[in-house]
Amino acid sequence: MGIETSCDETAVAIVDSDYKVRSQIVTRQIVHEKWGGVVPESASRAHLELIDESTSIAVQQSKLNPSDIDAIAVTIGPGLAGALWIGTSFAQGIALALKKPWLPVHHLEAHLWSVKLVQPHLTSPFLALLVSGGHTLLIHVNGYREYSVIGKTRDDSIGEAFDKAARMLKLGYPGGPAIENASKGLSSKQHFKLPITDIPNSYDFSFSGLKTALKNAIENHSEISSTEWAIAFQYAAVTSLLKPLQRYWKIHPQLPLVLTGGVASNELLRKYIFEFAIENKLKTYATPKEYCTDNAVMIAVAGIEMLKHKSDAKTIQVSIKPKWNLEELV
Ligand code: KG4
Ligand code: ZN
Repeated sequence: MGIETSCDETAVAIVDSDYKVRSQIVTRQIVHEKWGGVVPESASRAHLELIDESTSIAVQQSKLNPSDIDAIAVTIGPGLAGALWIGTSFAQGIALALKKPWLPVHHLEAHLWSVKLVQPHLTSPFLALLVSGGHTLLIHVNGYREYSVIGKTRDDSIGEAFDKAARMLKLGYPGGPAIENASKGLSSKQHFKLPITDIPNSYDFSFSGLKTALKNAIENHSEISSTEWAIAFQYAAVTSLLKPLQRYWKIHPQLPLVLTGGVASNELLRKYIFEFAIENKLKTYATPKEYCTDNAVMIAVAGIEMLKHKSDAKTIQVSIKPKWNLEELV
């Protein structure tokens, strides 16, 4: 069983050890929409209200007996402290009642290995582009828990940039899907260009210049519609993400690329990456769209990986870790 409560999704899933999804419940908490961002206290309260029933439904839908569950994996970080406590205490309670182990999961490691849902036999080394609301990481994966971060954002994450841009354009929250929907099928109309960032001699990313450029452009060009700005923003954000990746990948063409995280559900990003891979004879595996944004299937998958690599033995006495670097995992 996987349980995810690190931010504003309350999610529970049951996955077999061969990555077959038995059941999954994801509730995106709507209380945050009117604020255009997640309110931590409201998130904790909503998790508390939703977690019990979500778990009962996930068990019912799996058609398993609770005693058939081998282990309970739960996100212990990074994320919102109050929200993490709800999922972690709940998982520990279930584990105690079922006399089964509980597995402390790193949220980003779960995004990373969610690719096993499409590529169960993926072997290291590989590259990963992990793009979410909190992180923008280019990772060189040498093996399980051998992660080298090659590039990261110097300011906003790409997901955050999408969310802030959507707020400026009054398109709603979360911003990524709102901008993508506003841009759908209209790419040929784009006359306005926003700046693309590619930092020399580095594989880092930056999105704050793009955000400021959009803010100024909106103020100076009131005649241009939010749809046209959405198209221009999506193009510039996706292209800024691709530049460092393409430079690093060209030096390591033998490595397949794993594309994952909430922003990886973006169609334009997927299209550009697959096109580049085909042109350059490179391999790419992307997490299925439905498992890119936060969910508990990926938490269960991370738990399966922990059991396979016996890394649960090292992490028995742990608490929540609201701030937790991927490279600290051993
Ligand atoms: O992985 P995720 O669900 O949560 C974190 O771990 O942060 O990612 C959420 C982020 C949000 O910033 C959201 O706007 C963005 O992913 N996102 C997208 C799309 N769907 C979600 N960004 C661009 N295009 C999308 N289709
Ligand atoms: Zn996430």
